[in-house]
Amino acid sequence: MTHHVNFKGEKVIPVEEGQTMLQASLAAGIPHYHACGGKGQCTTCRVLVLEGQEKLTPPTSFEQAIKRVKKFPDNVRLACQSRLNGEGVAVQRLVRDEVDRIIFVDDPQENITTVMGESRKLALFFIDIRDFTPFVERSLPFDVIHIMRRIFALFKKAITQYDGEIIDTAGDGLYAVFGLNSRIKQAANSATLAGLKILADLRIFNNTYMRPYFNHTFEVGIGVHVGRVIVGNVGIGLSHNLTVMGFPVNVAARLQAATKELNNSFVISAVAYRLLQNPPYAVGCDYLTLKGVSTPYEVKLIGKPYEKKEVTALPETIQK
Ligand code: FES
Repeated sequence: MTHHVNFKGEKVIPVEEGQTMLQASLAAGIPHYHACGGKGQCTTCRVLVLEGQEKLTPPTSFEQAIKRVKKFPDNVRLACQSRLNGEGVAVQRLVRDEVDRIIFVDDPQENITTVMGESRKLALFFIDIRDFTPFVERSLPFDVIHIMRRIFALFKKAITQYDGEIIDTAGDGLYAVFGLNSRIKQAANSATLAGLKILADLRIFNNTYMRPYFNHTFEVGIGVHVGRVIVGNVGIGLSHNLTVMGFPVNVAARLQAATKELNNSFVISAVAYRLLQNPPYAVGCDYLTLKGVSTPYEVKLIGKPYEKKEVTALPETIQK
């Protein structure tokens, strides 16, 4: 019996009984990559199944083995190992030219899920050091970089302890996500615990290091929100950093920025707060207006009001 498969953006082709999808696409003149000759070893024939996944034969042992190693999601199949047992199958070739081959196959750190991009619910975490500029202006370059490294190490320790992933750093702040390996409830809890740990650790760092050696203390602003975002890797072999995009990211950044106007070091959206298992006491609740959003965002204030900063002279030994 003949079935048909729709190669999206290319053509609908017949697949004869016993024929693999790869054999059928080559017979129909589709320039389908098949570096290993259809032996289930190179993965260049891989396709993303858009519709009718259940109409394909189950993965062969070759395909199962390689899918395990490469961590392919269920909807990525090897065309050379797949036959059809019904109508309604639509696929998209993932390797259509040499650049695709480099991105999807040759990259040694390939993780097909992140290369392809996926929609995920994550907790989004922004943190920024308050008033770093006055310290920069009054300090030796060595001290500026050294203290930045100390503070960022403190951030990183807390974030990784709670299974977060730092996505980007910019100046005296950074952006992390939680939930790449967990569900959203756990992610919201982890992001909150990481933020609270940073506040506690920073207090210790101020008392035991900054105050005695630099006569200066630091404060931070933290914003946490949850939402559905797009996660992917746009590195094209140059960088393996994850990229996370979507409106919830802008909201989280806005909450972080609002820590100043709300005079509280930790601002969390009410949506994220409601996911917390043991929510910390919120000293206040407020509403923030966001650009392009008609209804204000309800937020909870779970940090501390900022201390009034005294700008004092640095000890003589480190004066410029
Ligand atoms: S052609 Fe090599 S795995 Fe299918």
